[in-house]
Amino acid sequence: ERSPIDTAKFAAARRAVDFVQDGMKLGLGTGSTAAWMVRCLAERVREEGLRVQGVPTSSRTADLARELGIPVVTLDEARWLDLTIDGADEFDSEFNLIKGGGAALLQEKIVATASDRMIVIADAAKEVAQLGAFPLPVEVIPFGWQSTRMLIEEALIGLDVLGREVTLRRSGEAPLLTDEKNYILDLHLTRIGHPRQLALTLNQIAGVVENGLFIDICDTVVVGHGDGRVTVRD
Ligand code: A5P
Repeated sequence: ERSPIDTAKFAAARRAVDFVQDGMKLGLGTGSTAAWMVRCLAERVREEGLRVQGVPTSSRTADLARELGIPVVTLDEARWLDLTIDGADEFDSEFNLIKGGGAALLQEKIVATASDRMIVIADAAKEVAQLGAFPLPVEVIPFGWQSTRMLIEEALIGLDVLGREVTLRRSGEAPLLTDEKNYILDLHLTRIGHPRQLALTLNQIAGVVENGLFIDICDTVVVGHGDGRVTVRD
């Protein structure tokens, strides 16, 4: 038995895979919703003989895609992608996103911006009037990360946000390491008034590699509901 949330994620994932056409080069997202998408895509590859090349956005997704028989290539081999399908942690009415709950935001943003189109798959609960309830992940270089954190905290003072707490993401006791061997700082902002300004400000800080705000990147959101219904918005 699937829970309503899994039903919603699965429904969105399956619908999004309908957008895949023969011969496409695809960005494969990361997370539990994207994992459903990879499974649905593998089914089409198996049953219809659909030919695709997949560029995974994390080592987890790469393992899953290979295991299910989806041909995997690197972004450098593919160069440019037709479509990326990925999950999100939050999205607003302008399709701005918070991503990185699964710590894969860096590869996710590189892959999404190297694609003609990005489709986000999400359950309805992830839609928000204003981004920020979900802590914003920021990938930083381990060298001097405490100083980088101070610079981030200082930069937040002048910005339209409600909270300011910044925490280091851990895996057990140790700092969590991304696929790129960096750290993740989670910014507990509660409310982000100007996402574009915040994204630009964060990426100016030395030591910051990338932030989890996706601005003007997503083209379509496929929303899944707990009863299995799906709405496509673009
Ligand atoms: C991974 O880094 C994230 O950007 C995911 O896309 C996001 O956390 C969504 O995950 P779920 O589909 O598991 O909710």
